[in-house]
Amino acid sequence: MASVAEFAPVRRELIKSTPPKPFLIGVAGGSASGKSTVCAKIMEQLDQDRVESDQRRVVIISQDSFYRELSPEEAKDAKVGNFNFDHPDAFDHELTLDTLKKIKAGETVQIPIYDSVNATRKKESITIYPTDVIMFEGILTIYFKEFRDMLNMKLFVDSDSDTRLSRRVLRDTQERGRDLEQVLATYANFVKPAFEEFCLPTKKYADVIIPRGSDNTVAIGLIVQHIKDILNGNKSSEIDGVHDPGRRQRHH
Ligand code: ADP
Ligand code: C5P
Ligand code: MG
Repeated sequence: MASVAEFAPVRRELIKSTPPKPFLIGVAGGSASGKSTVCAKIMEQLDQDRVESDQRRVVIISQDSFYRELSPEEAKDAKVGNFNFDHPDAFDHELTLDTLKKIKAGETVQIPIYDSVNATRKKESITIYPTDVIMFEGILTIYFKEFRDMLNMKLFVDSDSDTRLSRRVLRDTQERGRDLEQVLATYANFVKPAFEEFCLPTKKYADVIIPRGSDNTVAIGLIVQHIKDILNGNKSSEIDGVHDPGRRQRHH
């Protein structure tokens, strides 16, 4: 088990002039497949959840943060479960792409905070500092070629659709204040068709498919080991061919 001390916190004063180019992991999969839980377990096993957020060497970014602002008309539809939040057009593509590019370039970025109960963007944002590993999780994180081209590793969390539906019902009724009828209608009208049209076909782009989501401790353990190797400098973080030998020295 890694300890916090094993992965020394990022020393920002050393990386100001030569920021790290992070290892970017895309984590895709259907709604309620367990993407957020898998990412949280990875953070936990790396002890990164106990490190101050600005000192973390592994950071999670959610695609949900990039839902676009709705027009008054769309907001009305969303309130009654009549807006398609599972379509690629529901996201602010330009902002997502621009943010990923900046992250890849080692820049500090601001990530919007999304309120999924009211389908609005909050005024505040979260600052993400340059770091070693970023997990970008969401239903369509490996859908756009521009995103895929920036990702060093692509994961697809694969859980049965009945498992996903039952979890989604519980989450939307308990945490999002929606009634059962609306949740089931939204699922049938938007979530399921969009999953089949846009999300499921992206499984072919995955480097690693994780069956049974967060229950799959073996797959999570393998990914954790890979990240540990990157953090310990045993593996070049740029496995897609761009070698950067000076990189480790910039951290310690
Ligand atoms: P996603 O981010 O893919 O939508 P989440 O990780 O948020 O999925 O999981 C959806 C819901 O299912 C959450 O309420 C979560 O707590 C629950 N959940 C996730 N994995 C499991 C599991 N292995 N067993 C039971 N519940 C789970
Ligand atoms: O965490 P998860 O992958 O489930 O998040 C994506 C899901 O959130 C989408 O399937 C979408 O239907 C749902 N969503 C929602 N309300 C919003 C925005 C997204 O139910 N305002
Ligand atoms: Mg999630």
